[in-house]
Amino acid sequence: MNIHLNVSKNSFKKTELVGLFFFDGSFTASAHGLDKNKFNAKCGEAFLVPASSKGGETTFLLGLGKQEKSTLQGVRRSAARFLAQAKTMKAKTVRLNIDGALEKYSAEEVIGAVVEGLRLSNYQFTKYKSKPAPATGVESVEIFSKKADAKSAAIAFKEAEIIAQGVYFTRDIANEPPNVMTPAYLANAAKSMAAKNNLTCKVLGLAEIKRLGMGGVLGVSVGSANEPRFVILENKVKSSQKPIVLVGKGVTFDTGGISIKPSNDMDKMKFDMCGAAAVMGAMKVIANLKLPVKVIGITPLVENMPGGKAQRPGDIIRCLNGKTVEVLNTDAEGRLILADALAYAKRFNPRVLVDIATLTGACSATFSNLAIGLMSTDEELTKRIEDAGNKTGERCWELPLWDEYFDLIKATYADIQNISKKYAGTITAGMFLKEFADHTKTWAHLDIAGTAWNESGPQPLSPIGATGVGVRLFVELVKSYKGK
Ligand code: BES
Ligand code: MG
Ligand code: ZN
Repeated sequence: MNIHLNVSKNSFKKTELVGLFFFDGSFTASAHGLDKNKFNAKCGEAFLVPASSKGGETTFLLGLGKQEKSTLQGVRRSAARFLAQAKTMKAKTVRLNIDGALEKYSAEEVIGAVVEGLRLSNYQFTKYKSKPAPATGVESVEIFSKKADAKSAAIAFKEAEIIAQGVYFTRDIANEPPNVMTPAYLANAAKSMAAKNNLTCKVLGLAEIKRLGMGGVLGVSVGSANEPRFVILENKVKSSQKPIVLVGKGVTFDTGGISIKPSNDMDKMKFDMCGAAAVMGAMKVIANLKLPVKVIGITPLVENMPGGKAQRPGDIIRCLNGKTVEVLNTDAEGRLILADALAYAKRFNPRVLVDIATLTGACSATFSNLAIGLMSTDEELTKRIEDAGNKTGERCWELPLWDEYFDLIKATYADIQNISKKYAGTITAGMFLKEFADHTKTWAHLDIAGTAWNESGPQPLSPIGATGVGVRLFVELVKSYKGK
């Protein structure tokens, strides 16, 4: 699908469908030859006006709701709604006029949101379908504005396409089946992505992981025939500032290990590498946008399997920073590999350290798919992440890391245990990670267990499968450090 921008006084080319944005309050039905009550520009409302006999264009009215309450997420969803309508009509060539949204937002914001809405909703993962799906797709979307500034609009448009490509990369690797997407395969995917996107990439193998003493990565991966990898991506920015370090959980398949999961829905645990995939996708975007901020992405990659060599409940391991962990449940494996990755980050002396992981079922029980669980040791970083979440629609909600919660993970025979003594599953996982991020004052943990994929049905901005959550959030977060 081709998307192009047309900022000019007129769009001459006739299309099969034209979209128009309206806020509730600035829409007058009579101006469109409509009766009142047919369309009120409520948020998410849409109304099709057939072409008149005089040979006009079929028009789709898109409601954004009241200006005070509307968000860019509404614009993204309306753009997706528009594309869905075009597909229903089997239209090939369509135009989306954005000027109605400029009453509240800048043209740059709207162009970004519209491109994201179109691209994110149009994604498909069809690599393993033997017969290609019948081509009902839209071929060309013109984003039209009379009011925008042509130069800054073009920049916003290009940026949004780069961001969408990053989300597509993340979704593509996360949707791969787990027999293909092993730790070694994912490390190679990172390597070839880095080579094409002006990033450096270092991959540590089993020998190096052993030599460094990454007891968490080793413990989780020891039961698998697929050896672990540890990937470090870095953009080529020269900066006097200390780097931002992003860490992503990369469990390419989580059976639970000896504490094995029920077989129902176990297939979904191929998505247990979505944190790593988000970091990789974000690094790709950060490099292509040439953001002038030093960023390093760290992803520990393992497969969590049962077997004769697998770690047992009761095992005690020693992580990279020397702390010992009693592994009471081998299914709480994400925190074990993140422990080593967070400790490894120390060598970069980070200014900001953020990890992202499909870490706890409890997080999706708390928020469903509506928020990322956020835990942090720094108020300012919390605020930045919340702001980035509100802007991108990848909303984050804070949970507390009170000292009292540490009692729940104090171990009998080691320093810490990897599960809570009682409840607070998401927070105690955060408390566990905090023990390994203690070298950096400004740290945050993001639990994307509820948001990393959808399984119940297609969402407005994502079909079934990996959502790519975290990519746009990280890009927005890194942008907030530009020039600071
Ligand atoms: N990958 C899972 C978390 C998960 C479960 C994410 C379901 C999304 C959907 C993680 O490794 C895990 O198994 N966590 C356990 C921890 C428990 C044993 C303390 C969980 O949440 O049940
Ligand atoms: Mg697990
Ligand atoms: Zn897991």
